[in-house]
Amino acid sequence: MVTSTVDSAVGALYSEHVNPLWVRLLDLLEMNVRYERCLGSELFTADGRRILDFLSGYGVHNVGHNHPAVIAAIREELESCGPAMIQTHVAERAGELGEKLCQRAGGRLTKVFFASSGSEGVEAAIKFSRAHTGRAGLLYANGAFHGLTCGALSLMGESFWREGFGPLLPETEAIPFDDVEALEKNLASRRFAAFIVEPIQSEAGIRVPTAEYFRAAQSLCRRYGTLLVLDEVQTGMYRTGPFLAAQQFGVDPDLVVLAKAMSGGLVPVGAVLMTEAIYDSVYSSLRRAIIHTSTFSENSLAMRAALATLEVLESEKLGRRASEAGGWLRGKLTEALRGYEMVKGVRGQGLLLGVEFTSPKTLRLRIPFEAFLRIHPAMFGQIVVMRLFRDRGILTQICGNNFMVLKVAPPLVVSDAQIDEFVSAVADVVELAHSSSAFWSEALGLARRAII
Ligand SMILES: Cc1ncc(COP(=O)(O)O)c(C=O)c1O
Repeated sequence: MVTSTVDSAVGALYSEHVNPLWVRLLDLLEMNVRYERCLGSELFTADGRRILDFLSGYGVHNVGHNHPAVIAAIREELESCGPAMIQTHVAERAGELGEKLCQRAGGRLTKVFFASSGSEGVEAAIKFSRAHTGRAGLLYANGAFHGLTCGALSLMGESFWREGFGPLLPETEAIPFDDVEALEKNLASRRFAAFIVEPIQSEAGIRVPTAEYFRAAQSLCRRYGTLLVLDEVQTGMYRTGPFLAAQQFGVDPDLVVLAKAMSGGLVPVGAVLMTEAIYDSVYSSLRRAIIHTSTFSENSLAMRAALATLEVLESEKLGRRASEAGGWLRGKLTEALRGYEMVKGVRGQGLLLGVEFTSPKTLRLRIPFEAFLRIHPAMFGQIVVMRLFRDRGILTQICGNNFMVLKVAPPLVVSDAQIDEFVSAVADVVELAHSSSAFWSEALGLARRAII
């Protein structure tokens, strides 16, 4: 096995006190490297490698790693020795950030609750929806990823994530994504406070719905008194082109959850955007002025970093870049992977793309493919990820709820040359999977090491 380049004392302490299985998994995948400097779309390791980031920390690094303007804003905030977490004050920049987020989201969204993560935002959206409607039910889509806290986890059907953590929230119901009929059937019961859904499902395998789906969902939600809650934790902040991915569908949601890319990947932050009416039903009297809050909400570093990030996203026109580079990357990938029987297609929007793999038909490929599928459904995808990382210096991952889709989500500052480099690396690894027994013997080695 290839040994990790992480300082052995660092690895040992982490194993001892944090998570030894994570260290073991990274070692197995030969991805346990020590990153020293991370800039834009590039990561530099202690042993002199340069890795191209096509994962962006699952959608955190839209402005690229360590953007100098975001660092400067955070540094200035720290050096000002201002009120960071007094708790009994009006947070200096929260109003300004709230206004900017609501203006960009548009529609009826005028109020913001700030959180420190996507899951925390989803938890708030659950509470606010219940408070506003007086209903308990929560509707969600199959394959969704909304976070791993108990409320958010209750909106994710995959048994892998849920097992052993129950009982979760009652009165939740899953329906197929992009299925208007199933949605109406459930909404008609008038039991549901909210329909919580990603505009483009990320971890389910980069699933873009039909153009009419969200408009139909919006009008059905209104007809039956259910709030439409959009989880834009991965898709928001210009990742797919517009500020919110849902804007391309012309939808006017009741609540929107943002997080991840909001603060340039440097300070944890999240936000729940909502209508005035929803806000009023939660914060309904002076007695309830802080009925839902959290210690790190509105902290000055997060607010400052988020304002600087927004400024970078817009001054560098990264939304337009996501649309243009995304279309170009998608076209190039489609072209380069055409004709390979294990590639079903390339899909997505802006710089949130996925390469979908499928079972091969040729017997020579089908036998090893199915054998590895039986060992673990993620095995094939992980070998692709491992080879991209080790052989070509490309960081990406397969989707968390769909192991047959390789995620393609670089920082929005990715250059044309970096896109070319990625396409050629993926094409080479896919060619190897179709033509070389070394690809499959490598997989066997990995399977053996995983079992030991
Ligand atoms: C769409 C979506 N919603 C919510 C979350 C949860 O966010 P966090 O990990 O910040 O709690 C994630 C995390 O990956 C996500 O992808």
